[in-house]
Amino acid sequence: MYRSHSCGQLRAVDINQEVILAGWVQKTRDKGFMIWVDLRDRYGITQLIFDEERTPTAVVEKAKTLGREFVIQIKGTVIERESKNKNIPTGDIEILVSELDILNEALVPPFTIEDETDGGEDIRMKYRYLDIRRNPVKNSLMFRHQVAMKVRNYLSNQDFIEVETPYLIKSTPEGARDFVVPSRMNEGQFYALPQSPQTFKQLLMVGGMDKYFQIVKCFRDEDLRADRQPEFTQIDCEMAFVEQEDILTIFEGLTRHLLKEIKEVEIGDFPRMTYDQAMKTYGNDKPDIRFGMKFGELNNVAQHKDFKVFNDAELVVGIAVPGAASYTRKEIDKLIDWVKRPQVGALGMVYVKCNEDGTFKSSVDKFYDQEDLAKWAETTGAKTGDLICILSGATNKVRAQLSALRMELAERLGLRNPEEFAPLWVVDFPLLEWDEETERYHAMHHPFTSPKPEDIPLLDTRPGDVRANAYDLVLNGNEIGGGSIRIHDKKTQALMFDHLGFTAEEAKAQFGFLMDAFQYGAPPHGGIAFGFDRLVAILGGQETIRDFIAFPKNNSGRDVMIDAPANIDAEQLKELHITLDL
Ligand code: AMO
Repeated sequence: MYRSHSCGQLRAVDINQEVILAGWVQKTRDKGFMIWVDLRDRYGITQLIFDEERTPTAVVEKAKTLGREFVIQIKGTVIERESKNKNIPTGDIEILVSELDILNEALVPPFTIEDETDGGEDIRMKYRYLDIRRNPVKNSLMFRHQVAMKVRNYLSNQDFIEVETPYLIKSTPEGARDFVVPSRMNEGQFYALPQSPQTFKQLLMVGGMDKYFQIVKCFRDEDLRADRQPEFTQIDCEMAFVEQEDILTIFEGLTRHLLKEIKEVEIGDFPRMTYDQAMKTYGNDKPDIRFGMKFGELNNVAQHKDFKVFNDAELVVGIAVPGAASYTRKEIDKLIDWVKRPQVGALGMVYVKCNEDGTFKSSVDKFYDQEDLAKWAETTGAKTGDLICILSGATNKVRAQLSALRMELAERLGLRNPEEFAPLWVVDFPLLEWDEETERYHAMHHPFTSPKPEDIPLLDTRPGDVRANAYDLVLNGNEIGGGSIRIHDKKTQALMFDHLGFTAEEAKAQFGFLMDAFQYGAPPHGGIAFGFDRLVAILGGQETIRDFIAFPKNNSGRDVMIDAPANIDAEQLKELHITLDL
């Protein structure tokens, strides 16, 4: 037996018990006649005491050789501590050691294994197994497990069945690039790793599974950010014989359940907003609605004077920043520099201070009088003491810029409270999205999403205006999930591929299997996928998903611990019929 108890288990009631513990040496204090060791495992820390008078001399001598992170096993008696530590659950007791076995020595770790470590991100990722010993990382992984269990139980109780789908598949178009895997047995051919199990879950519906879910790895070769990893996990779901409302109800239920069970937060109203409304009001299809600063469109009240910048703009739009009228000239200039950074890309910013005495002071006083500015204040909902920030330009660009400013200011003003949760459904997404680069329409969600029946006639005339039966779940400004009601008949699916620029042959070659399946009694169906890493991170009060993944990749998509991706040897390449031309 390696241990009778864990390092987090023993209390005052256990005094006088003989115990065996095993774990890592967190820290030692050697006072000569007395040595204390903090012994750590996943469950906690227990203090050990080696006492010259009461511990065999050989054991004390061995204890003197212990270094940080040595793995040891001890036998001893639980005794009452003289100076109690109220900060840890085992703080009333210590173990008077009688036997010590060093199970494994350890090199000095490259960073301290403490909650606040001296190790930077790179070194911690290289030695991630040591990082995982630290409470913040360990707790994040345990938290992730808790959320996964709750999701599984909830969905299982709602009659969903977890079915595994293959990882070696053919490309699924979800908008990112595929990771591909060469096939040794099929010369010159490649599998793709799934960007999601999309087509398979639809085939499970054709197969009559009715309600499917899977907590599943997905792979996307795309540029990485704090909320994106090349391999990530989805809670993927699909249901047959459902309409959008059924899906929203079930997954609203799941979200409520998780927030209640995990955060003890009861969500009252679960708002919905159309994509058009979200873009108009927040300049963004994943608005953070924990705070206001709603957009006020000012074209009507700002394009009647000689200010050319506004007059030439497709959209003039502003937000009222609470309490910011007190910003100094310098602070405002900094804000203007911020919106002009290439990442945001605004050409400039007009501002209006709403003074405490009810007057206005703006950067465009030359063109506009107090009456004009009062109208701007009204349109943006500005109160005395607020600062109105106004951008102008091409609609889509200017919305994105003002949205970035809104989020930045909210962050600076402390309005993004991680302990407050504001979910939102964004519905009625456009079916198609114009891509400037390829000069053609792409499916905004994916090509299996159904158009709203009443909009189908627009496909030929105004494709960009066709709305889809597609929805996203947004939580605190993050896209947590997305889904749609699918096309389930061959004719509509073929029409869709046609509009996406596929020839009939290309559509057949890539998706013949799905269209064939639709001819054998495909039920109406739809579904959704939650980004599990994102959900866990946000429930955990953070937005960086890396902290909730045991072995994440860095921003260049590398695993710096195992040093992947890596070259493979010539023999392996030959076997795969691959010649490199580097
Ligand atoms: P979608 O592409 O919207 O939908 O993905 C669903 C959710 O997955 C999360 N997500 C990511 N998380 C981390 N890293 C990434 N690289 C990443 N990419 C996406 C997001 C997103 O909302 N098959 C459809 C779902 C459906 O239609 O049912 C799909 O994959 O939180």
